[in-house]
Amino acid sequence: MSVVVLISGRGSNLQAILEAGIPVAAVISNRVDAAGLAVAARFGVATGVVEHRAYATREAFDAALAAAIDRHAPRLVALAGFMRVLTPAFVARYAGRLVNIHPSLLPEFPGLDTHARALAAGTKRHGCTVHFVTEQMDHGPIIAQAPVPVLPGDTEEALAARVLEQEHRLYPQAIRWFLDGRLVIEGDRVRVMENHG
Ligand code: GAR
Repeated sequence: MSVVVLISGRGSNLQAILEAGIPVAAVISNRVDAAGLAVAARFGVATGVVEHRAYATREAFDAALAAAIDRHAPRLVALAGFMRVLTPAFVARYAGRLVNIHPSLLPEFPGLDTHARALAAGTKRHGCTVHFVTEQMDHGPIIAQAPVPVLPGDTEEALAARVLEQEHRLYPQAIRWFLDGRLVIEGDRVRVMENHG
């Protein structure tokens, strides 16, 4: 009935998920030095490390990662600042129950350095997206988005902080919708059902 969260770094989205009371079975990092592992420990959540550097191929790393995840038999796998490209086999294994948060209003600015790119493009609106993960990176069916304004004089740091505040609100809400059975994938779209509970 619970969630496995994959991280690579700071773990602020993980913390927001835990603070929201989402049942997290385990947190797995591909980096032993990820600060988010301490966040998980503070909340008494089991942690694991599957170091990508220990594996010769993406396929071997993803197989080890899947084995570590499956030990917890989660309903949902949530990527929270997990900075590895996943293989098609891994994505297929968790089809419909693998979600990600991305720091832009997809389909704008997939990939890295989204805040700097938003500033460089002169866009007036930026934000974050929670989506189901598909083979094409940062392109899966969108569950929820939160926009923020880009303000005159914004630095990359100021804009990132404004977006992050929304990430911390949006991701727990989207995960809750999933766990409550409210998300229906219809082709490339996600329908959020009314809560009759
Ligand atoms: C977040 O801003 C998240 O949206 C982003 O990394 C940060 C992780 O912060 N994810 C990606 O860029 C995925 N491509 P956190 O470790 O404090 O949650």
